[in-house]
Amino acid sequence: MLKIGPITMKNRVVLAPMAGVCNPAFRLIAKEFGTGLVCAEMVSDKAILHGNKRTREMLFVDEREKPLSLQIVGGDRHTLVEAAKVVDEETNADIIDINMGCPVPKVVKCDAGARWLLDPNKIYEMVSAVVDAVSKPVTVKMRIGWDDEHIFAIENAQAVERAGGSAVSVHGRTRVQMYKGKANWDIIRQVKESVDIPVIGNGDVFTPEDASDMLEKTGCDGVMIGRAALGNPWMLYRTINYLEDGVLTPEPSAKEKMEIAILHMDRLIALRGEEVAVREMRKHAAWYLKGLRDSAKLKDLVNRATTRDEMADYLLTFAQELEETVA
Ligand SMILES: Cc1cc2nc3c(=O)[nH]c(=O)nc-3n(C[C@H](O)[C@H](O)[C@H](O)COP(=O)(O)O)c2cc1C
Repeated sequence: MLKIGPITMKNRVVLAPMAGVCNPAFRLIAKEFGTGLVCAEMVSDKAILHGNKRTREMLFVDEREKPLSLQIVGGDRHTLVEAAKVVDEETNADIIDINMGCPVPKVVKCDAGARWLLDPNKIYEMVSAVVDAVSKPVTVKMRIGWDDEHIFAIENAQAVERAGGSAVSVHGRTRVQMYKGKANWDIIRQVKESVDIPVIGNGDVFTPEDASDMLEKTGCDGVMIGRAALGNPWMLYRTINYLEDGVLTPEPSAKEKMEIAILHMDRLIALRGEEVAVREMRKHAAWYLKGLRDSAKLKDLVNRATTRDEMADYLLTFAQELEETVA
């Protein structure tokens, strides 16, 4: 069972935090597909303190999404602590997660995200300061190291534990790797063996069988799924079932996929309004369509859709035609 601080998840499957993806619309779908813990996309500490409308939206947590982990990112101790206090006191999140893995130059240059991977002392100081200032459990999501010559995963996870962190998620790649190469599950296993707090393994879990393999090979307490869930919340549901009873539930039909895509769009519209939501939905639609026969021909249409009804019509007509062809 995955337990973080006082919070017990109903299973060991975790939706990874993903910027531009893990907003309430998608998180709620992931939750409805059974996910034990959903993570929100990262929010910068400075944005939280400026408190503009868009950021306040990013801090919104629907009761039905709980338990939920809300991730903050920052490089400066004062602003990180103050932002953590806002999340602690003013949001419905259950867990405060600190980003220690974001590899993009804009973030690393501000001494934030993956930059910390080079300095276990900084990790200890920053995590201690946040833990002391809040009452919600604090966790950290990290990569295994900066590059092949600087893999401090064990020291870094131990620093999180000493600082009072309640769990650590480990993406088995270095900062320099970005998303290339393979995630190193062996280092994740070494981290699990070197701390007593829960460890959540992450990286390259693309099938339910991968999730089972990762849990077995690393001994981790939870398995975090990112890219494989894009346009595919069934991956989460099928993984939960597979881990529970070893049965692989069938893949969804094209029609089921398109119906969930439309539900996703309607929830985005409720959050952002039709114009913004439909534009944002284009990338999700491409993910929902991925792997379906002849879906490439729909790409241009979907990318030009500007209204909800147009988008819904393209998706449903495609599913219907596909099912007729197969029949
Ligand atoms: C579109 C996208 C956005 C991401 N945004 C975040 C983020 O906001 N915070 C974070 O810690 N990791 C972020 N990640 C990394 C994922 O959480 C995860 O660590 C990574 O994708 C590896 O897991 P996977 O192999 O299951 O995809 C992002 C990844 C993707 C693909």
